[in-house]
Amino acid sequence: MTLEQSLPLPLRPEIPEDAELASADERAWRDLLARLSRQSVLKHFDAYEDVDWDNPDFSVDAGDPRFELIELDPLGGTDWYRSLPQPRRAQIGLHRFATFMKVGVQFENILKRGLLTFAESLPNDAPEFRYVYHEIAEETQHSMMFQEFVKRTNLRVHGMPPTLLWFARRIPSLARSFPELFFVFVLGGEEPIDQMQRRALREQQWRHPLAQRISQIHVIEEARHMSFARAYLLRHAPRLGWLGRNLLALRAPLILGNMVNLMLMPSPHFAKRYQIPKSVVRQAYRDNPVYQGLRREAIAKTRHLCRELGLIRPPYSWIWRAYGVESE
Ligand SMILES: [Fe+2]
Ligand SMILES: [Fe+2]
Repeated sequence: MTLEQSLPLPLRPEIPEDAELASADERAWRDLLARLSRQSVLKHFDAYEDVDWDNPDFSVDAGDPRFELIELDPLGGTDWYRSLPQPRRAQIGLHRFATFMKVGVQFENILKRGLLTFAESLPNDAPEFRYVYHEIAEETQHSMMFQEFVKRTNLRVHGMPPTLLWFARRIPSLARSFPELFFVFVLGGEEPIDQMQRRALREQQWRHPLAQRISQIHVIEEARHMSFARAYLLRHAPRLGWLGRNLLALRAPLILGNMVNLMLMPSPHFAKRYQIPKSVVRQAYRDNPVYQGLRREAIAKTRHLCRELGLIRPPYSWIWRAYGVESE
């Protein structure tokens, strides 16, 4: 039994539509999908052809000072980190970046399975099918690129904490039963990664050319993925019934709050591995207003979209505040 079948009220009630408006909306939707699909053909990357893995300058060495934490990571600004010997600082920076890549591989695995489930539910003439398959192909290249990087570090890199991974593995089935919630999850993972990579590129924070190349490729293709997810939500979320809209309003901040922590903060396992004192973690993240601003910025566009869709409202507004992801 799917989630939708088990609910007491339908997620999507039948609402009669104005035929003219509906056809204009349909045309705009088809145009967007055609445009995104065309861009995927014109500008796409291959994990092995477009990254110069064998360039000596791209070699991955745990003692390389170019891997020291970038300014965007508040841990790098703590006295604790600065007082460490240089090779240790470089290893922590490399391990943090590799963990980011590993979480990316796990997230994209769930995302691809969800998109395949979504595509399976489409009728033969659906314009979404082709675009979704372009996106799956692009995410496949990203994951190969991320995993190749992780492999080259020779570090024991863990990604998501096991409990979170357990929950995340339940997500792909949502792409069929409740695609609106699935696409909130998609944006919850894609936007923080994209925002951080974009900002590091803009401010020239990447010192290692491999980290820079991976980020460049990723942000170009992610722009399309997020456009699709946002447009899907704008088109479909308003058509949800009372129950669907309430479920979405309740779960969106829970998903976004958890995803932003996962993407931006070191896991307890990581803190233990490098014996980072709890007080340092508090100082760098939880009690740091700069980091709190970074978290809000990391999901700013998705939060704006949720507001536009009327999903940030009582009685659920407190959840946004509780996760510290509300706007200031
Ligand atoms: Fe990706
Ligand atoms: Fe993506």
